[in-house]
Amino acid sequence: MAASHRVSVFPSPRELGPALARLVAERAAATGSGRFSLGLSGGSLVGILSRDLPAAIAAAGPAAPSRWLVAFCDERLVPPEHPESTAGAYAAQLLPQLPAPGPRVLAPATGLPPAAAAADYAAQLRQAFPGEDVPVFDLLVLGLGPDGHTCSLFPGHPLLQEKEKTVAAITDSPKPPPERITLTLPVLNAARMVVFVATGEGKAAVLKRILEGDEENPLPAARVRPRPGQLRWLLDEPAARELTIPVEKHPVP
Ligand code: 6PG
Repeated sequence: MAASHRVSVFPSPRELGPALARLVAERAAATGSGRFSLGLSGGSLVGILSRDLPAAIAAAGPAAPSRWLVAFCDERLVPPEHPESTAGAYAAQLLPQLPAPGPRVLAPATGLPPAAAAADYAAQLRQAFPGEDVPVFDLLVLGLGPDGHTCSLFPGHPLLQEKEKTVAAITDSPKPPPERITLTLPVLNAARMVVFVATGEGKAAVLKRILEGDEENPLPAARVRPRPGQLRWLLDEPAARELTIPVEKHPVP
């Protein structure tokens, strides 16, 4: 992968979380009085953002969440109250901590069959991003699976070739639950900024492949190369331990 991205390494998620939260609040503030569009992912990010984002928003002052449009980069097709629901987890853990009035949240219609849920979310995006064939998010926060997946885009899956749809359905996710909807690569690569967050030694080997490999058939996360948007990686030391490329160490030694 070309070295056109920044890789920041923190001792642990405790230090990474506030830095991620500051980055989100700064990007929101940079949109001035305009709208800030933010795509969120599930997994450990829910806990990190719920712990650290409210304070960063309070510190940023004018970054009022009422100007925010929040969407989900992927969602498991389970009811919002189900423990596996990403939207439900954010609704329970993060949103109640944000100052009122809160952001506009695009909720996936998880009660629909997968293809209909994907079409519904694509229609919600079309309505929220008028005039944009592909929605251009100000910021997408993505996770990384130990197999190199991001969103619900899995290695070797035909969805990696999707060029037309902004949101696709998947019914055979190798990570349960099998039925999900996901933003597609054209949307990820249209964003103004994409931030990947990966922590823990279970991500070390795959990060080496993604950030230092030059594979003929790149892993899903290695296909995320926003142009002209920016790409950032926030890692903890266990996740970064196999990397030999230059990284920014935080706190700066
Ligand atoms: C899912 C998860 C998944 C997650 C990565 C990283 O839908 O199954 O949201 O895509 O983002 O597996 O997860 P962790 O951050 O928890 O390691």
